[in-house]
Amino acid sequence: MRVAVRYYSRTGNTKAVAEAIAKTAGVAAVSVDTDEAAIKEPIDILFIGGALYAYGLDNHLKEYLATLKKDDVKKAVVFSTSWLSKHSIDLIKRSLTDAGIPVEAETFYLKSKEVNDKLKTAEEFASKFV
Ligand SMILES: Cc1cc2nc3c(=O)[nH]c(=O)nc-3n(C[C@H](O)[C@H](O)[C@H](O)COP(=O)(O)O)c2cc1C
Repeated sequence: MRVAVRYYSRTGNTKAVAEAIAKTAGVAAVSVDTDEAAIKEPIDILFIGGALYAYGLDNHLKEYLATLKKDDVKKAVVFSTSWLSKHSIDLIKRSLTDAGIPVEAETFYLKSKEVNDKLKTAEEFASKFV
């Protein structure tokens, strides 16, 4: 099974979740603003995550989401962190769905203040899919 983990993180919270997921999946967590982020061959599962900033997604993530093609991603699994709101999950899901990419109904979310204590739950979440 081909798995990829992509994320955008300004202050490290979503990165920490991405790395916990990636560790379980046995792949690298790759920031969407790097050259390695492009999906160059079709994958079975894309774990994709980002946080909420003033009710919206960071432009790096928005632009990356717009590059994804349904023929390259069999299923996307969404994760996020924020202070309180899960709206980022809706925004990521919407972008994927608009591109015709199937999105797993189950998502993973941590409040930013919980991230350090609950990384194990991110590993457990990822293990359901890989
Ligand atoms: C400029 C800014 C705006 C934010 N706006 C929101 C918000 O509207 N709602 C919310 O729940 N969290 C908000 N947050 C909190 C972030 O989503 C949260 O700290 C998140 O874990 C950051 O992820 P990161 O460390 O991966 O960048 C905001 C944070 C920043 C820095």
